[in-house]
Amino acid sequence: MKIAISGKGGVGKTTITATLSKMFSENDYNIFAVDADPDANLATTLGIPEEEAEKIKPLAELEDVIEEKNDGGGAFISLTPKVDDTLDDYAYNLDNIKFLRMGEIKQGGAGCYCKENSFLRSIVESLLTDKEEIVILDMGAGIEHLSRGTSRAVDILIIVIEASQVSIETAQTVKKMAVELGIPAVKVIANKVFDEDAEELIKDNFSDEEILGFIPFNKEVMMSAMTKGSNEQTYQALKADMEVIYNNLLRGGGSK
Ligand SMILES: Nc1ncnc2c1ncn2[C@@H]1O[C@H](COP(=O)(O)OP(=O)(O)O)[C@@H](O)[C@H]1O
Ligand SMILES: [Mg+2]
Repeated sequence: MKIAISGKGGVGKTTITATLSKMFSENDYNIFAVDADPDANLATTLGIPEEEAEKIKPLAELEDVIEEKNDGGGAFISLTPKVDDTLDDYAYNLDNIKFLRMGEIKQGGAGCYCKENSFLRSIVESLLTDKEEIVILDMGAGIEHLSRGTSRAVDILIIVIEASQVSIETAQTVKKMAVELGIPAVKVIANKVFDEDAEELIKDNFSDEEILGFIPFNKEVMMSAMTKGSNEQTYQALKADMEVIYNNLLRGGGSK
């Protein structure tokens, strides 16, 4: 199963990615958890100690690997098997989770970042098409890591929203892009749902079919966010709230 997570900043993408990753891991699934958001903090949210997290180099900055893999001067697509090794070599292992940090796709500006960008694109392609493991990509509001070619390999794009007009607007924009890219299933998770009015707002904007699940506003999660290294508390606090969503995903509620 290949899952991509998007949505406006602050809605809870990273929290949800980390919680799902740990739930999969705890249930003996092997998974790749990929930080593909420029505002990267999945490593620490997963519970990788800060000193170690700092040392994990973004794949976009692996100049040597990029040079080596680009030897042929051609497209990376044809070199996908080699990129495949890179994924295992550079992943940080935590229980059954292999963590990867993508680094930023650079655009325009002074230099040409073609090499870096096509390297990252082939990383995503390799993750989505070669790997047996579950893959969860924590993306920002932008889904530019996905291309027309790789999007069909994503089983489900989950857009996280909260009861705010801005997050709903972002969700609509992402949804439109995702449909254009040909992603087979696009669903929303409503997070931090604090009361019935909040739930109503979500239901007014998305059909039952589109809503993968609701996660209540959880004060314990908010409180543990105040303390460094409190990822385990957050996980324990949110696990029960996410059980229905987790089972929905496993049952294939994700795809189609
Ligand atoms: N269900 C929830 N209840 C309360 N707080 C939450 C919930 N989900 C996430 N949060 C908090 O919201 C903040 C933003 O979450 P985060 O996962 O970093 O968002 P994003 O990755 O979308 O930017 C964090 O402080 C997190 O602890
Ligand atoms: Mg985040």
